[in-house]
Parts: sequence; structure tokens; C-alpha cells
Amino acid sequence: MADSEDTTKELYSLPYASSADEGGRLDEQHNMLKLLLDGLFPCPELVAKVLKDEEGRTKSILDLGSGSGSWCLDVSNQFPQAQVVGIDIASNLQRNTSNCRFELWDINQGLLPFHGQFDLVHARFLHGIINHHNLILEATKCLKPGGLVIFLRAGPNVTEGRTALMPAASSRMPDQSWYQRFWSFVELGSTQRGLPAEIYNRDYDEGFWDYETMDEKMCGAAFITLPIGAWVTTSNPTETARLRTIGKFWAENTMRVCRHIDHEMSAAGRSEKDIELLQTRLDNDLQTTQTHSSMTIRAIWGCAQSVEDANSRNHSPPRDEDAPLPLLSNEPGEYRVITIFDNKLAWTKFNAQLMSTMTPDTKELRETPGFDLMEA
Ligand SMILES: C[S@@+](CC[C@H](N)C(=O)[O-])C[C@H]1O[C@@H](n2cnc3c(N)ncnc32)[C@H](O)[C@@H]1O
Repeated sequence: MADSEDTTKELYSLPYASSADEGGRLDEQHNMLKLLLDGLFPCPELVAKVLKDEEGRTKSILDLGSGSGSWCLDVSNQFPQAQVVGIDIASNLQRNTSNCRFELWDINQGLLPFHGQFDLVHARFLHGIINHHNLILEATKCLKPGGLVIFLRAGPNVTEGRTALMPAASSRMPDQSWYQRFWSFVELGSTQRGLPAEIYNRDYDEGFWDYETMDEKMCGAAFITLPIGAWVTTSNPTETARLRTIGKFWAENTMRVCRHIDHEMSAAGRSEKDIELLQTRLDNDLQTTQTHSSMTIRAIWGCAQSVEDANSRNHSPPRDEDAPLPLLSNEPGEYRVITIFDNKLAWTKFNAQLMSTMTPDTKELRETPGFDLMEA
């Protein structure tokens, strides 16, 4: 384990949750995500169905890259009859409880010891993974028949209307989004370090629909947004206050996360001076409430086939080429947090449409490591 832990440490950019500072940050982030989703999952009905008590069966849950352990402990309290296991390359500051334990495991070694044992496998904001596609396959192998897998990943930021990407800022376009610029560096740097952002993105674009072992009728995806900064006003004052609390936290949280981007920035060919400059601009960007943008989270999920399904795999629902997109944009006086997709075509179409809103400048910034745009 020691060798692979060293390699993984180089791949994972953030401090480990075993430090009080990072553990505390992940706890606060977890609480804000709970407030955002009004719970622990993007698909709560499906989770309730999969985890409902059944006589003679103990339900089991695996969290990949459990970080500070707060998600595991909350799930273990919500489902006291279930057994929860959180695995991570690093320890956290939590104690095991009667139905929740934490194990040290490097996910880059695969998940063989966990195969076939879980009703729910969950991975949120996991990065530093050498072969993400393999991880997705490994996660599905950890499921019992009918078990549910959920993956969540943070992404770039979008404009107020939620349907277009914010253009990335540069010295040529200083009024655009420095957060988007930061995200371009993270993706570029990650790719340069041998963790191709493209593979993560493709896995999320495709969801779980097409996997041989999955039940395509029980797959879905969600486009989730949260405001960066306290800028939202809705027609409901309680909702406005909730979204402003989340937005304010998220801007501060992002500033904290961005203190650890040196690996990605240097891999993307940036100097120390550039890093400092980006951080200053990013801080200014995040502190203003003038930029009405939202960070995106994509969630994908699916259930493994049950024994009956596996015997009769020929159940493909008809594919609707004109699958309509669900409602995405914010109406006046509202802020939409989550949009659910139950259809692969609509999800793929939506992802392609969103990416097609990337401006040529932003595209160029993402693809050119040595392209110096930091200074006027
Ligand atoms: C950004 S944190 C997210 C933590 C938690 N899932 C959450 O949402 O609060 C990512 C976690 O993945 C863990 N991690 C990164 N690479 C890993 C690996 N190869 N094996 C196991 N855990 C890993 C890190 O130690 C960290 O705790």
C-alpha cells in the first residue's frame, strides 16, 4: 500500500481529510450539499426503494473516497439497519460506529475485495483516479443484483439562465469568469498529469445506461447547479435566504480549494507568478455578487440488473430520437437546483448542447498550455 499511496498522493491535489482544516472544510461542504439537495442523494426515491428493510437481508452501502466521513455517518443514521463502509486513501477524524466503519484503501488498485457485496455504491467528488472508466466498471461490480450506484462530479460554471457556459476570463477578457478559467486549468493540468479530464467527462456524458450489467430502465442523471456567491433572488424569501447561504459558502469554499491548485497549474505550464495572479483575480471574482453564475454538478446513477432481468436482457425501451429536454432554465423569480434526466438521449443531447455554448476563446484557453493570457 505504501508505494501506491505515494503515487496517489502525487495525483490527488487537495490535502487529506486527516488534517483538521481539510476535514472541517469537507464537513462544511457536505452540510451545504445536504442543504442544497434537501438530503443526501440526487435520487432519494430510488435510494429509499433499494435500501428499504427486507426481512433476512442486511442492506450495505459503500462510499468511495469517503473524505471526512460525514456522508457515511449521515447515511448510517438515516438507515440504521444498514451497514456502511467508507473507503479512502487517507484516514479521517471520525470513529467507527455500530453500523459505519472506515477502511484505508487505494481505489487505484481496483475494488476486488468489495465486489458483489453492496446495495448502494456512492462516489462524490472523487478525483486523482488513474483510470476513471475502470473505476466506474469496478464500482458496478461491487453491486449486489438490483443494487444502485451513484457518482457525482463538480464541473464548470454556467450563466444565470443555466443553459450556457460562462466564458473564461483572461487578460484579453478580464470581465469574464475567473472561476471558469481556473476550471480550464484544472482540466488541462489534470490531463497533463496523466488523468485525462476527457475520460471523466465522457463517463459522465454517457451515464450508466449502456452497461451490460445494468438495468437501463433504472438509470438516470441529474444536472445540479448551485449559485457561486449570494446573488440569487427568488419570489420566496426563505428560498432566497437558503440559496444565498449556499452561494456565499460556495464562493468561500472555492477560494479555499483554489489554494491547492499548484500541481495542476504547474502541470499546465504556469509560473508561480501566474498562480498568484490567478488566485487574486479568482478571489475578486468570487467575492463580487455581480457575476451571476452557478457551479454545476453532474450526477449519474443506475441499478444493476436483478436476477430476473439478467435472464431476459431484451427489454430495451424504444429510443426516442426527439427526446425532449426537461426544463432547464430558470424562470423569473425562481432558481432551479436540479433537473432530472431519465432518458439517455436527452442527457447526451443536453450535455452536447451545453458544451457547444463554449466560446472559441474559452476553447483555446483550455487547449493551449503555454498560451499566456494572465498578464495584460
Ligand atoms: C474531494 S474529497 C471528497 C470526499 C467526500 N466524497 C465528500 O464528498 O465529501 C476526495 C476524497 O477522495 C480521496 N481519494 C483520492 N484518491 C483516492 C484513492 N486513490 N483511493 C481512495 N481515496 C482517494 C481523497 O483522500 C479525498 O478524501
